[in-house]
Amino acid sequence: MSDQPLMNTYGRLPVVFDNGDGPWLFDTDGNKYFDTFCGIAVCGLGHAHPSVTSAIKDQAERLVHCSNLYHTPLQLKLAKKLCDISGMDNVFFSNSGAEANEAAIKIARRYGHSKKVSAPTIIVMDSAFHGRTMATLTATGNRKAQAGFEPLLGGFVRAPFNDLEAIKNIAKTNPNVVAVMLEPVQGEGGLNIASQEYMTGVRALCDENEWLFILDEVQTGNGRTGTYFAAQHYGIDADVITTAKGLGNGYPIGACLAKGEAAHVLVPGTHGSTFGGNPLGCAAALATINEICDNQLPARATELGNRMLESFKEELLHADYVKDIRGIGLMIGIEMEDPCVALVPIAKSKGLLLNVTSDNVIRLLPPLNLSDEECEFLIDAVVQIIRLYAADDRGGPRS
Ligand SMILES: Cc1ncc(COP(=O)(O)O)c(C=O)c1O
Repeated sequence: MSDQPLMNTYGRLPVVFDNGDGPWLFDTDGNKYFDTFCGIAVCGLGHAHPSVTSAIKDQAERLVHCSNLYHTPLQLKLAKKLCDISGMDNVFFSNSGAEANEAAIKIARRYGHSKKVSAPTIIVMDSAFHGRTMATLTATGNRKAQAGFEPLLGGFVRAPFNDLEAIKNIAKTNPNVVAVMLEPVQGEGGLNIASQEYMTGVRALCDENEWLFILDEVQTGNGRTGTYFAAQHYGIDADVITTAKGLGNGYPIGACLAKGEAAHVLVPGTHGSTFGGNPLGCAAALATINEICDNQLPARATELGNRMLESFKEELLHADYVKDIRGIGLMIGIEMEDPCVALVPIAKSKGLLLNVTSDNVIRLLPPLNLSDEECEFLIDAVVQIIRLYAADDRGGPRS
């Protein structure tokens, strides 16, 4: 199949998918593949989940769109549900993670101006990923992603991740700081998990300095790490939480949740989105949240994640080509000693869809509702493919 009519923004594998079912995807030739990262952390309930499909179908027959100049019952219901789960006060709906983060950045800037800070500045992290729009690209800590798009925006300063002292030092010298923005677990950046001490420390620094604490939970939200939002692991309150990806199980919807002062920064005319919070997206998200909560899928993510971590460590950690294995819930990273992107087409040829991020981290983000058998299948398949790859790559079998 020719890619010619598509802009050349993705290095796509030569496979055309037609339908899916749980962790499985089927190509147009009828071959089946196990998807270990569910559309990059999107289909937490697996592909084509029946509850989400029927919610979308039912809603499509009633109303697809009516603009944000009016209320719709599902938008209010979804906002209330997200506030109840997270303890936040209110929600702005978007269509993607980057847009949810744009809302968060705009809240921080306007909050800063309300405090008479003329050049509001947000502290962001090395290796962060916040999206591809110009503001979120600037916030992203990856020079490769930014290269060629300069000039980037002003109003951001960068600190190493998990380094509280670095933030304290910025606090001493930069009076324009109004917020800290970070991912509790950096997904694209290589599966880096924020420490408890760091998260508690950042919260305290934000309180001391009247900064907003913005958590990007686009990837970590919706049960992925073993709690509905990863913030709940740390027992901290954020001022702003963004989410998207798993929120609609594949239907595009994002949300920017705010609390306290941050919840009252935006007023009519300051921000908006034509499609944000449309009835179809809200129906998909409500069905997804109900499935996640009614079936205790965050707890299942913890159970499955621990099982996988234990098995991977037992099977692979001693191998000289594996550097580290880490994870939280069903967000697992197997860090290889060397770049391993070449693993992806090899795995695909064996019916396994794998993702490699940061050049050498195999990132596993399977559905939260895997059966025990599917979990065992995934563990065996991933271990085998890594061993096979390492043996080929290094000219002989390794254990
Ligand atoms: C943590 C995080 N924030 C933001 C984004 C951007 O989300 P989207 O691609 O929906 O704009 C991503 C996407 O990978 C992400 O992982």
